[in-house]
Amino acid sequence: MARITAGISTSHVPAVGVAVDMGRTEEDYWKPMFAGYDFSKKWMAENTPDVAIIVYNDHASYFGMEIMPTFAMGLANSFEICDEGYGPRPIPPVMGAPELATHVAGSLITDDFDLTILNVLEVDHGLTVPLSLMFGAPDKWPTRVIPLAVNVVMNPQPSGARCFALGKAIRRAVQQFDGDLDVQVWGTGGMSHQIQGARAGLINEPWDRKFMDDLINDPEVLQYKPHLEYMIEAGSEGVELIMWLIMRGALGPEVDEVYRFYHVPASNTAVGHLILTPKGSE
Ligand code: DHB
Ligand code: FE
Repeated sequence: MARITAGISTSHVPAVGVAVDMGRTEEDYWKPMFAGYDFSKKWMAENTPDVAIIVYNDHASYFGMEIMPTFAMGLANSFEICDEGYGPRPIPPVMGAPELATHVAGSLITDDFDLTILNVLEVDHGLTVPLSLMFGAPDKWPTRVIPLAVNVVMNPQPSGARCFALGKAIRRAVQQFDGDLDVQVWGTGGMSHQIQGARAGLINEPWDRKFMDDLINDPEVLQYKPHLEYMIEAGSEGVELIMWLIMRGALGPEVDEVYRFYHVPASNTAVGHLILTPKGSE
């Protein structure tokens, strides 16, 4: 049987990828932020999963206004790095997990989640920056990855409750897979940030901290937070946080908090990061 061993959440600020790729992580601006991930890199080295299901959003990099799936899963054996305007990041390709992905996608669709199936996909900073934060800059990523893209960039986005239920369905699907695999679910994006308009630069630390507390302790209530509240309190891009609810849903009713980090700012964003494990799993 496959197991969900942990949930990781982290912001996915594109400038963080640039800092890694250009060797700037020791600069004054970046050092405190990357220091917050030192624990996580060590923890990940000791708890590397066989597969990470990485919930992220494409920022109209591979998808666009023409086609924008609500939920889409990558079933391919590998995923190229998307060119977001400055050439693809100089990082290894992301290796997929076709057998588990095919099983999970089938289970979710039978469970009434109408996923789009992606047999070709190029992944953007939403997925690659979390990999860099958790693994640094290796020659080859130490885990296989199932990309799960969620539309948070174009109205209408899925509700928080739908995301939370999807996480629960992912848990059931993984547990029914006939294979001895450790699987993590990662939720990326957030926390508060707005990168355009009159409120560009908005950060709301008290709201972000409460979101982390509620995600850990009270997700059954948190799932009903309306999108308008995310936008008003956490900025127009703060709604990326609904992806953290998918990760939380996959962990079961109670969790242990292994690690928490919060740092302001990185580019325009409040960086938030959690490592959670299903209660009683260790
Ligand atoms: C920034 C943050 C994001 O999550 C993103 O997708 C793009 C830009 C930023 O802070 O610059
Ligand atoms: Fe983003």
